[in-house]
Amino acid sequence: MAHQLVLVLDFGGQYNQLIARRVRECNVYCEVRPFTTSIEEIKALNPAGIIFTGGPNSVYLDSSPTISKEIFELNIPILGICYGCQLMAYLLGGSVKTAKVSEYGKINLCAIKESLILEDVDKESVVWMSHTDYIDKAPDGFEIIAKTDNCPCAAMQNVSKKLYAVQFHPEVTHTQFGKQILKNFIFNVCECTGDWVMDDFIENTVSSLRDKIGDKQVILGLSGGVDSSVAAALLSKAIGKQLTCVFVDQGLMRKDEGDFVEKTFTSMFDMNFVRVDCKDVFLTKLKGVTEPEQKRRIISEEFYKVFWDKIKTLADGDAYFAQGTIYPDRIESGKGASADKAGSAVIKTHHNMGKIPDDVKFLGVIEPLGDLFKDEVRSVGEKLGIPHELVWRQPFPGPGLGVRIVGEITDEKIRILQNADFVLRDEMAKNGYEKNLSQFFCVFTGSKAVGVMGDHRTYENVIAIRAVTTDDFMTADWARIPYDILAEVSNRITNEVDGVNRIVYDITSKPPGTVEWE
Ligand code: XMP
Repeated sequence: MAHQLVLVLDFGGQYNQLIARRVRECNVYCEVRPFTTSIEEIKALNPAGIIFTGGPNSVYLDSSPTISKEIFELNIPILGICYGCQLMAYLLGGSVKTAKVSEYGKINLCAIKESLILEDVDKESVVWMSHTDYIDKAPDGFEIIAKTDNCPCAAMQNVSKKLYAVQFHPEVTHTQFGKQILKNFIFNVCECTGDWVMDDFIENTVSSLRDKIGDKQVILGLSGGVDSSVAAALLSKAIGKQLTCVFVDQGLMRKDEGDFVEKTFTSMFDMNFVRVDCKDVFLTKLKGVTEPEQKRRIISEEFYKVFWDKIKTLADGDAYFAQGTIYPDRIESGKGASADKAGSAVIKTHHNMGKIPDDVKFLGVIEPLGDLFKDEVRSVGEKLGIPHELVWRQPFPGPGLGVRIVGEITDEKIRILQNADFVLRDEMAKNGYEKNLSQFFCVFTGSKAVGVMGDHRTYENVIAIRAVTTDDFMTADWARIPYDILAEVSNRITNEVDGVNRIVYDITSKPPGTVEWE
């Protein structure tokens, strides 16, 4: 079923995905495309509205991203944001200049005229600004609808042409009425109906998957992460036993996790489930290896080999290959979404599956979640009945505990780390603090320390607790977990886990640290 579309034209700003997510939160389907998208393509997409994003450039430089003026003649409503606002002004004959005072951060906005996009927005409100250039003169036919102390045209409109523009960023939460302004544009100006709902998505996707797959088989690499789990559940609903999920347990998952994934998918969903247990092979390959990058390389190569060796026994050229690619995986910053063609899709590298080997042939690649953002994937997962722990699972690196054991990886170290990490997760779940954290886990530090237990001196392993808060994992702050919680975790680990006599808390942000230790 076709949905109404709001098109985000990407001029290189940092919040472009956020704009699309905000639009989707209003139940309107939204895609990000590069500013180079041709007018013909835009016409063919038939959007209900277009949003020009921000960007780091100045509109009057020859090298700056721009677009044909024809776009303003399509009778499609347009909202320009920041650079997009200046571009609209510049292309339509207004004047854009460099400001004496840049505006950055929270600024007071004053609405000076009624507007469809300012409905239910207070006359005075706080907005998030980040600009050096400003609109000195709005183009003919436009009226200024809001200003700030340093920005005489903070928002403008040409009602008859359905063109609107704001110098600030409505998509970020710091803008007090940002969501309302986007909503106003989408519903008041573009007259969208809000036809993008996850129940419909499931129904429509299930039916199109059935049409596409027919009576063929589908093979899916299941990692136990959110995306591949939801893709598996969706495919199971569509085609049941025609789906075979291949789950490689390299022995570096968290405690009991392999069993949990297997139990979930075999008991709750109709499918063939193939589990490959290969801890021994991995440990043999990793014996004596201490250099972090070499460990990663071995884990990744071995995973690839085991995974595809198994797939080769199942695929005979007459099956599809499915994976849990999601929308952000397909968007390259500044370039918009790259449309993947079945069969040539790049395999998600962090699944450690690499490229499909030349000697494995498929009918094509199926990516049922390729249009969804992570929060939408989770919502679909919940609607499909996947357990909460899996749908809200924190990120877990492809090399698993391998990047959390400093030095050589051994069976004993895995056991100690799994047990310590289990206690940490158990405590965080019990006291509910996990909802405040982006990621948290234990690290086998490779250090030993002297301790005392009863009358005995001990010399045992040091475990570190790592917990971070972050929006994007590019930077992260160490989490300020309350001391009482840390005390309980420390008590329990030293009491319950053999081989550990000391717990330390990692108080390093990223940068200079990374989230993982290796
Ligand atoms: P770093 O350690 O790079 O971690 O600050 C940032 C985020 O990425 C995850 N991570 C990985 N994920 N394969 C993955 O799939 C990897 O090799 C890998 N290394 C780090 C890490 O858990 C954190 O969420």
